[in-house]
Amino acid sequence: MKTSIQEIIGSYDSSVSLERAFTIPASWYTNQELYELELRNVFAQSWQFVCRLDQVESAGQYVTADVSGEPIVIVRGNDNVLRGFFNVCRHHAAAVMTETEGTAAQLRCPYHGWTYSLAGELKGTPDFAGVCGFERSQNGLLPVLIEVWEQWVFVKTGEKGATNESLNDFLGTKLIAQIQPLNLNNLYWFERRHYLFDCNWKVFVDNYLDGGYHVPHLHKGLDSVLDYSNYKIENGERFCLQSSPIVTQGAEPETGAVRHGERALYYWLYPNFMINWYEGAMDTNLVLPRGVDKTEVIFDFYFPDVSESTRERNLASIAVGQRIQDEDTEICKSVQRGLNSRAYVAGRLSVRREAGEHLFHRLLAADLR
Ligand code: FES
Ligand SMILES: [Fe+2]
Repeated sequence: MKTSIQEIIGSYDSSVSLERAFTIPASWYTNQELYELELRNVFAQSWQFVCRLDQVESAGQYVTADVSGEPIVIVRGNDNVLRGFFNVCRHHAAAVMTETEGTAAQLRCPYHGWTYSLAGELKGTPDFAGVCGFERSQNGLLPVLIEVWEQWVFVKTGEKGATNESLNDFLGTKLIAQIQPLNLNNLYWFERRHYLFDCNWKVFVDNYLDGGYHVPHLHKGLDSVLDYSNYKIENGERFCLQSSPIVTQGAEPETGAVRHGERALYYWLYPNFMINWYEGAMDTNLVLPRGVDKTEVIFDFYFPDVSESTRERNLASIAVGQRIQDEDTEICKSVQRGLNSRAYVAGRLSVRREAGEHLFHRLLAADLR
C-alpha cells in the first residue's frame, strides 16, 4: 500500500525536545511528492540567495538563475535600481535571457524577438499589429520580490502568502547583528565552484549541521586546526552558528597555512545558505535541490586581497576547502543509499552535537504542514 504524503509528514514529531528527538524519517529524503512540496512550501516561500551584488553593479548587468524551479533574471536598470523578474517571455514563455550573466542594453527574447526594457516593460513586438485587446503596458515581465543583505541579492518567488515577511524579518535581528561586525565589504569575490552530490539536499545540510560530529572521523586536515571539545553550537530562530577556536599546534601544514584567526564561524541560514568565515577567508554555500537524490552546491570564495600577487595563496585556501567537499561527497552518497534501505526509518540525535539538525528538521516540518 502506498503511504500518503500526509502520513509521511505526520510520521515526524517536531514537538519533542532534543533529548527525545528522532531525525526526520528516511521517506522525507526519498519521496518525490514530498520533494515537490518542499519546492513550493520551503524554497518558494523563503528568501533565496540568487546572486552577488558585484555581479549586478552597473546598469544593464544581469544574472539568470533557477530559484525553486522558477526561471529568474536579476537586472540593474538605467535608473540604477536593481530589479528581479520571472525570466519568462509573455509571448510564448521562452526564457528571455539565456546566458547565466552578462550586460545588455535591453532584454531580448531569442524566440520571436520581443524586447523588454531593463525595467521589464515590453517595448518591441515584431509583426504583432492587429491583435485585438492586446495591451503592451500589461505585458511586461512579471516582477519577483527582491532584497539585498550584505553582498548578496535574495529573491522570493512564491505568492505573497499571509506571511509576507521582509528579508530582514526572515533573517532576524540577531543574525544581522552578528554578521555586520565581520565587515564583509572588506572581502572580495575570487572564484565560484559547483559541486554535485548524489543525495537529497537535506543530507548535505544535515552533514553540515552535525556540530563537528563527523569532523575528526572524516576530515583529518580540518580536525587538526579545530578545537573539537570547545566546538559550540548556537541556534537562532532560523539560523545556526557553529563555531570553533582555531588551534595552531599540531596543525596539518596545508590546512594550517590557510586557516588563521581565533575562531572559525559556520553560519547556516534556513533552509539552504551557509557562510563559512575564517580570518582572511570566507566562502558561502548555496544548496540547490536538483532532484530528490541530486544536489548541486555552489561555493563562492572570498578573500581580502584578490590581486594577482595573492592568487597562489587564495587557490591553496580553496584547495583545502575542495578536499573537505571531496571527503563529504562519498559519505553523502552512502547516507542516501542507506536512507533508501528498508533497514532504516529514523535515527537519534547527539544532544552535545546535533542541535542544529534538530532546528532544521523542526523548521522544515513547520513549513510542510
Ligand atoms: S516567446 Fe518570447 S518572443 Fe515569443
Ligand atoms: Fe564534512
